[in-house]
Amino acid sequence: MYQTENDLPLRRRAEMNALMNLRLASAVDLQMQMKQAHWNVKGPNFIGLHELFDKVDEAVESYVDMIAERIVQLGGIAEGTVRVAAAHSRLSEYPLVTVDGAAHVEAVARALSTFGQEARATINEANALDDADSADLFTEVSRGIDKWLWFVEAHSQATK
Ligand SMILES: [Fe+2]
Repeated sequence: MYQTENDLPLRRRAEMNALMNLRLASAVDLQMQMKQAHWNVKGPNFIGLHELFDKVDEAVESYVDMIAERIVQLGGIAEGTVRVAAAHSRLSEYPLVTVDGAAHVEAVARALSTFGQEARATINEANALDDADSADLFTEVSRGIDKWLWFVEAHSQATK
């Protein structure tokens, strides 16, 4: 940990950063999974899904940035490489052979849901460490993930 005048106690900052580095790993993985879907989706809903998955990627990129910069603000080192993400992400492997829109909608919804659950849990973990700002950050992230999950799932809900 780097020295900082930030008044949160060192032990709490270190604990929060360890949690946030795990969330960062999943967020980096999620971002590339959204690109994977954006690049490979095919079928009658191609253009809508292609553009939607790119919008989700852009939003997730901003979450990655927010989480990484919060870690550094608290005196830590953001562990944001693809190799660290691959080692620590909680997301399931994205199915590489997925082609049609419905299968991508399902895979993307699963990835968003997994990360959303992680983000929501982190709100409580941050509150337990008296870090209201990190709790606020993950509240914003999980609210955003819930919105994107709605955008994606709306493609499959009308048929049920
Ligand atoms: Fe693109």
